[in-house]
Amino acid sequence: MLEKSIAMKAWQLHAFGLENLTLDEVAVPTPGPNDILIKVGAVSLNFRDKAIVDGIYEPEMIPKPLIPVSDAAGTVVEIGANVTRFKVGDRVTSHLYSKWIDGQPAPNEPDFCFGAPLPGGLAQYMLIHEESAVNVPSYLTDEEASTLPIAALTAWFSLVTYGNLKAGETVLIQGTGGVSIFGIQIANALGAKVIVTTSSDQKGIKARELGAQEIINYVKTADWAAEVTKLTNGQGADHLLEVVGGEGLNHSVLATRVGGHISLIGFLTGQKTNLDLMPVIFRQTNIQGIAVGHRAAFEEMNKAFAQHHIKPVIDTIYNFEDAVKAYEHLDRGAFGKIVIRVS
Ligand SMILES: NC(=O)c1ccc[n+]([C@@H]2O[C@H](COP(=O)([O-])OP(=O)(O)OC[C@H]3O[C@@H](n4cnc5c(N)ncnc54)[C@H](OP(=O)(O)O)[C@@H]3O)[C@@H](O)[C@H]2O)c1
Repeated sequence: MLEKSIAMKAWQLHAFGLENLTLDEVAVPTPGPNDILIKVGAVSLNFRDKAIVDGIYEPEMIPKPLIPVSDAAGTVVEIGANVTRFKVGDRVTSHLYSKWIDGQPAPNEPDFCFGAPLPGGLAQYMLIHEESAVNVPSYLTDEEASTLPIAALTAWFSLVTYGNLKAGETVLIQGTGGVSIFGIQIANALGAKVIVTTSSDQKGIKARELGAQEIINYVKTADWAAEVTKLTNGQGADHLLEVVGGEGLNHSVLATRVGGHISLIGFLTGQKTNLDLMPVIFRQTNIQGIAVGHRAAFEEMNKAFAQHHIKPVIDTIYNFEDAVKAYEHLDRGAFGKIVIRVS
């Protein structure tokens, strides 16, 4: 069994604003009968983590002080008396919607998310209920595995679990953020044709290296939906990963084929939209809200990732003490995940 000390270092958010995130010393949590205690190896940052710190993500749901960051990977160092799913020494990741195991979500799933309102992983140790953890695929490091719980599972759940993606279908992926890069890798591994919109020709080249066949610069080509229509012989994409949100959803409807699927994931340009209903009605577009995914899909995804040897793309790994710099980097933008190595 690994040694654990009584106190640990943890970053805590005391009030909204990055200046209120401080490195503190707190007690190591004690596992209840069904909990596992993990020594955190690494965490990765998502847009959600920054939005929580900035106070723009469901601010009334955020307790303070809060140990932030939902996505963590590490090694089990202690288990509660009734734990059966894991043993000391196992490598695990957290599962964001910690009580959503399979099937339909309960209405209150967001109340049980790591990194708010539950404590997150930006600490030396993290307590997780045994049902809320998933084994790390052995070919991945902790740094790589820490990128899976939100970004990868969101793309997988959208394309595979809800989307039932088939080889030969066309996927339109917006941007080259964390979710989108996993979307490119998954769609490519499953034999789909991938079109990516990006603001950067440089990022477009990197997206091609990951398997994207067509790149549209959405700054130079404002009517990117018309370009998608052209690239799909007038049909539109079968699936579209909507990470942008806001008014852009109207373009997405036009870029998707009749009866196609839009996975409504993000809100980078706004949480509200004026949706033009007639195109949605005439085109019979399926717009599916996405809230990451359930644990069963996470486990299925990990098997597929191992089979296809999908390696998460990491932009930069920061040291634990430099967590604030990692948040600032996320704000500036990256190609690949921003990771913080904890131990
Ligand atoms: N519903 C869920 O379950 C769920 C899960 C995860 C994330 N999300 C949400 O999804 C969104 C993306 O998350 P993320 O972690 O992938 O973010 P991220 O890594 O910060 O992605 C940012 C990227 O989005 C692209 N982008 C921004 N504006 C765009 C536009 N107008 N058109 C096309 N692309 C644009 C940019 O790509 P380029 O630099 O290539 O232009 C940018 O690099 C966020 O709103 C996040 O909260 C939701």
